Amino acid sequence: MLEYHAQTKHSYQSVRSKSHFMDWDHQPQHFKIYPNFYERISLEKHNPLHRFFILIGGITAQKSYPGVTYALRTNPSAGALYPTEGYVQIRGVEGFKDGIYHLSPSESALVLLYDLKEDEGVESALHVTKVTGFVFLFSALYYRSSWKYRDRALRYCLQDTGHMIGTLEASCLLLDKTYRILYDGDKEALSEMFGMGTRELYLSSVIVGEESALTCKAIQMHVPYVDGTGVFEQNTLVEEAYQQTMHPIQNVQHAMPKFTLDKEVFLKAIWKRRSIREFTRASMSEEAFKIVMDFITEPIPSTVDEVVEIYAVINRVEGMWQGLWKEGVYLKSGDFASKAGYLCLEQALGAHSGVTFFLVGESEQNYQAMMQKAGIIGHRLYLISEYLGLGCSGIGAYYDEEVAEFLQTQGMILYALAIGK
Ligand SMILES: Cc1cc2nc3c(=O)[nH]c(=O)nc-3n(C[C@H](O)[C@H](O)[C@H](O)COP(=O)(O)O)c2cc1C
Repeated sequence: MLEYHAQTKHSYQSVRSKSHFMDWDHQPQHFKIYPNFYERISLEKHNPLHRFFILIGGITAQKSYPGVTYALRTNPSAGALYPTEGYVQIRGVEGFKDGIYHLSPSESALVLLYDLKEDEGVESALHVTKVTGFVFLFSALYYRSSWKYRDRALRYCLQDTGHMIGTLEASCLLLDKTYRILYDGDKEALSEMFGMGTRELYLSSVIVGEESALTCKAIQMHVPYVDGTGVFEQNTLVEEAYQQTMHPIQNVQHAMPKFTLDKEVFLKAIWKRRSIREFTRASMSEEAFKIVMDFITEPIPSTVDEVVEIYAVINRVEGMWQGLWKEGVYLKSGDFASKAGYLCLEQALGAHSGVTFFLVGESEQNYQAMMQKAGIIGHRLYLISEYLGLGCSGIGAYYDEEVAEFLQTQGMILYALAIGK
């Protein structure tokens, strides 16, 4: 098991013994805002290509408490801290100047950071040929998460970025676009190109476009950088774990997922997606469970396709026995609803769900890609649940070792999620 993952386990003991001071007066900003003099493209909801960008991490709702208003987005985020930042290189697309843009959800805009010359681009650092279309780049400003979650923050940055890629996948599905995720780019070169330093961790890229036979050079000047947190405190464990896992081993998945959904209903699901806060404890149907499983297990095209195993604790599914289920087989039968709730740090969501999922993986070297894949699967789970009229919530807090013992696995517990009515 990766040392970082082992060092950041929650246990019954650890969550009760670590005193945790939250410095609310120095909360990091949730948005990176470039100065006004950068050119912007304001994104209009009714323009299909603009909407393609809006749906990638854009704001879809607001939540107000006395004195504060939070913006909620197409992607869920652990603690609603939104560490992931998105950039996109656009080349040869009508209505857009060739350039590198920042995705700015707070302004619902693309901010032009860099005018691209004909023979240069991010492709060289991604080891791909010249792309006509879009190359997205995702990174995490880890302090937004480590401010609250301390050492465990890298896990959340990776899962959250997986969810962002999930929003991109969903947006591609609506416009019948194909995509491919690259986890094996030259992280040092990209980080340098974007001036990220050690505070912003470059994590992945996604190509949505045509690759040609031509190559291009690295961009000649740096992309301008602005601080996206306001305050910052270094976390050496997070930075070291990132460094240790930054060179993955390729394992290419070429197959595209085949989704057959009603696009209008799916668009509504993307727009309405929220994390459920409480289940009614009504049962879901076996058919819905099957649709969910088919949807979340479709292939994910990427350069580093690491195995993520899906365990399901069946709590309330009409026509199915209660028990622990994996790939069509019951590993144990019985009512484990309260157990699942306990394992999710005593969160009722895990106990009152129709199904509580645990995602498991083993790779140390491909840890970053594997955790992002868990986030993508998690995002699919949110969207298909919403599509079917069910609720879903990601659960990043669980007792790692006790979950592993319950599942009887040696693997790392990557993520938990609950769905139901
Ligand atoms: C990686 C991850 C872990 C999460 N963990 C929990 C959790 O342990 N408990 C919980 O109630 N919600 C959890 N959530 C849901 C977030 O609280 C929620 O996404 C956030 O408040 C934004 O709200 P929204 O999803 O409705 O837009 C998690 C979400 C993500 C992406």
